[in-house]
Formats: sequence, C-alpha cells, structure tokens
Amino acid sequence: MKMAIIGGTGGQGLGIAIRFVQAGEEVIIGSRTLEKAQAAVDKIKELLEEEVPNLKALENPEAAKEADLMILTVPLAAQSATLQSIKEGAVGKILMDATVPLESGIGGSPTRCLYLPEGAASERAQKILPDTKIICAFNNISSGSLMKFKQPIDCDCLIAGDDQESKVTVAKLIEKIPGVQVVDCGPLERAQIIEKITPLLIGLNIKKTCTDAGIRITGLNPECKLY
Ligand SMILES: NC(=O)c1ccc[n+]([C@@H]2O[C@H](COP(=O)([O-])OP(=O)(O)OC[C@H]3O[C@@H](n4cnc5c(N)ncnc54)[C@H](OP(=O)(O)O)[C@@H]3O)[C@@H](O)[C@H]2O)c1
Repeated sequence: MKMAIIGGTGGQGLGIAIRFVQAGEEVIIGSRTLEKAQAAVDKIKELLEEEVPNLKALENPEAAKEADLMILTVPLAAQSATLQSIKEGAVGKILMDATVPLESGIGGSPTRCLYLPEGAASERAQKILPDTKIICAFNNISSGSLMKFKQPIDCDCLIAGDDQESKVTVAKLIEKIPGVQVVDCGPLERAQIIEKITPLLIGLNIKKTCTDAGIRITGLNPECKLY
C-alpha cells in the first residue's frame, strides 16, 4: 500500500511515517515545499541509520495523486487549505485524519477542545472532500510514542468513519504498528468524542509530568472488534 503523509514534516507525521516505513509500507512524505519534505525523509534515514528505499518526498498535491491512501497531519488552522490543495488527487481514496481541534490553535489552552460548526474536525474534512472516504485516526497516539520507534506503542488507535470497507483496510494497516490495537468506534460522527480524548491526555501529561499518556479500551471481544 502506497501512503502519503500530508503535512508529514511535523512531529505526528514523522512519527507515523517512521512506523509505516518500519512495517515495510511505501511512504511518501508530503509538504508545502519539496525541500521540507526531503529534509524530513533525510531525518528518518538518519534516525533509522539505513537506506530506506520505501520512503520518498513530494509536495502535498503530488503526494496525494501518487498515493493509494493518505494521512493528514496538520494543525486545525491548516486543515482546510491543505485539504483543498490535495482535492484532485484524493478523489475516491481513503484519508485518515489526525486533526485535533485544540483550543490552543486559536491561542487558548491545549487541554480544551474547540467546538466546530461541522462537529468533529474529521466531519469538517468530509465536508471539504465529499468524494474521499474520511476516517478519524491517530488522534490519541502521541508523536512522542510514535517516534520511540524501537518500542511498541502502549495506546489503542480509536477510529471512526462511514465506510466499513475503508475502516477494515486502515485497521489492518495500523495494526502493523507494534502494540497498537485498532478499535472501530462507529460512524464518523463518533470522531467528535475521539478527538476530545486528546486534550484530556494532554492535561494528564501535564498533571502527571509525562509525555506519552495514552488510552486502552478493554473487555472487547477480539473476534468482532472491527465489525
Ligand atoms: N503532536 C502530537 O503528539 C499529536 C498527537 C495526536 C494528534 N495530533 C494532531 O496531528 C496534527 C499534526 O500535529 P503536529 O504536532 O505534527 O503539527 P505541526 O508540527 O504543528 O504541523 C505539522 C505540519 O503541518 C504543516 N503546517 C503547519 N502550519 C501550517 C499552516 N499554517 N498552513 C499549512 N500547513 C501548515 C507543516 O508542514 P509543511 O510546512 O511541511 O507544509 C507542519 O510541518 C494536528 O492536528 C494535531 O492536533 C498531534
């Protein structure tokens, strides 16, 4: 599966890229500039201390066109413009959206969420890209735990989306990351709840003087967790 990390030059994008490169997937780092995307690719090669033939750099629109599937990792303030920039290449494909509508995006607190007129940030993404299958994912996994690439991740990946087949596709991909259990929480509107867990985790990081607070859902029947 060839995937593009749109805005993949920040902490979250880099962390997701490194995990999927390790899993053997073909990864394209996207950015507004080719130079920045290439610098991110070079950084991952340096961290992994090896040649990484399954990793390359492109500008966001080209990355979306070339990929089978995309992951959006930009701040809320950049979400709309970034999605508009990839609209053509995203038609008919899956896009996982990691955007969290933190109040800090408009100068407030990172431990509070903004209430968007569209509902969740992922629902907003679906309105901007109506012909793309949007799945809320990676909102609750910290960049710190993604970047500790020699260790498994102690956090579930809660996902939500309206296309069942796409959720199965992404769940199989995400579960290639050691330690991560994918939990399908239902239709895309459940992203309103998933995204609000992140400011809670950020608050716990502050209170408990740590960096990688995560969440685990227990008691599920493993036979039917994706359906
Ligand atoms: N960091 C975490 O631990 C974490 C955890 C869960 C969810 N998330 C969510 O994941 C998303 C990315 O987080 P991050 O910490 O990686 O963000 P970030 O480092 O602030 O930004 C990621 C990338 O977005 C692009 N970008 C930033 N501002 C932009 C603007 N004004 N216009 C267009 N593009 C812009 C930049 O890419 P280019 O300059 O290369 O184009 C930047 O490298 C956020 O929505 C965040 O809420 C983050």
